[in-house]
Amino acid sequence: MSWKTALQTSATIVSIAIIINELQKAYRQVTTSESGLTSLPPRSRGIESRIGNTALIEIKTLSAKTGCKIYAKLELNNPAGSSKDRVALAIIRAAESQNQLVPHEQNVIFEGTSGSTGISFAVLANALGYTAHICLPDDTSPEKLQLLEALGAEVEKVKPASIVDPNQYVNAAKRGADAINNDPTNDRKAIFANQFENDFNWRIHYTTTGPELIKQLDHIDVFINGSGTGGTIAGVGRCLKEHNIETKVILADPQGSGLANRINFGVLYDTVEKEGTRRRHQVDTLVEGIGLNRLTWNFKQGEPYIDEAVRVTDEQASKMAKYLCINDGLFWGSSAAINCVAAVKTALKYGPGQNIVVVACDSGDRHLSKFWKHAVQIPNDITLEDVLLEERN
Ligand SMILES: Cc1ncc(COP(=O)(O)O)c(C=O)c1O
Repeated sequence: MSWKTALQTSATIVSIAIIINELQKAYRQVTTSESGLTSLPPRSRGIESRIGNTALIEIKTLSAKTGCKIYAKLELNNPAGSSKDRVALAIIRAAESQNQLVPHEQNVIFEGTSGSTGISFAVLANALGYTAHICLPDDTSPEKLQLLEALGAEVEKVKPASIVDPNQYVNAAKRGADAINNDPTNDRKAIFANQFENDFNWRIHYTTTGPELIKQLDHIDVFINGSGTGGTIAGVGRCLKEHNIETKVILADPQGSGLANRINFGVLYDTVEKEGTRRRHQVDTLVEGIGLNRLTWNFKQGEPYIDEAVRVTDEQASKMAKYLCINDGLFWGSSAAINCVAAVKTALKYGPGQNIVVVACDSGDRHLSKFWKHAVQIPNDITLEDVLLEERN
């Protein structure tokens, strides 16, 4: 072989090797997700492969006004619109790995939820070959009900009740799943997702949301979030603390919730629980998704890592939502607004120069008929000073 042919042959071999390498890289990119959220087979490019790895943005006006850097993790950009996509997928994958769920075999996922988790289950059930059966209070906001119905979920409305009542929506979901599984004549099989008590909830935030934040920001001084099930604050809080013990983990808590007192004073109590003042709803707030008057498994997993709690009124949250919408173009839901009020209070308490991270769990369009019905009336020229004015709660 002449030197020219040898050169041409080796150039061809090198080119083929490069092409194969690039093809392999591309294949790896589409079949595995960095977050590990789609790690079980069958791997796919389906909607579930887009869960996680959400962006982190800076909330510029809050940074400028406080001298800190205030960032938000855009969990609302998950495919079904909230951080609950991670939890729903983790619970489904765990059930599949234990053979409790088999796609396209008439399997049903029961969950008791008044909000985002039901929507995540409804979307993922459709994508992965299941039926979602969602039990919720009959006064859940109309847009969420309509959304669940549009998604084709089985929707079961129950009267609002306390968790000790067997007809409370979480208990109704468990009962529904048990009824199917205990009926030998029923062809269907069911799981009860049980997000409040399910260990996979906090763990998915520990293994995905937390590590994503560590990659996204060199240094995190403070992480702030509300607690619904407690899964996010438990998983992210523990992950960040293990990475850097100096990172403060702060609970943002709405009016009517007993969790702030639990963190600050060791007692789960809110003034609305005084005898004779207890109202129809356990947590009396316009805010949806966070605040509770009972201790859940997931919250308990986070409790040792939470340094302090900041209480935020509905009034402050509504004003913050309007402020962020007008000044930063951020149209967010109520729990994100609560987190941002707590972030500003924390920035003012500990002084400038800190990196503060909050979670933007969902968008304002899920809250138009309740929280935003109030927030929309707040004037466009609301200032941050006005936002922070203390209201009695
Ligand atoms: C809108 C919204 N924000 C925040 C949360 C709180 O998340 P976690 O349940 O992880 O505490 C929830 C929970 O359902 C929610 O729906």
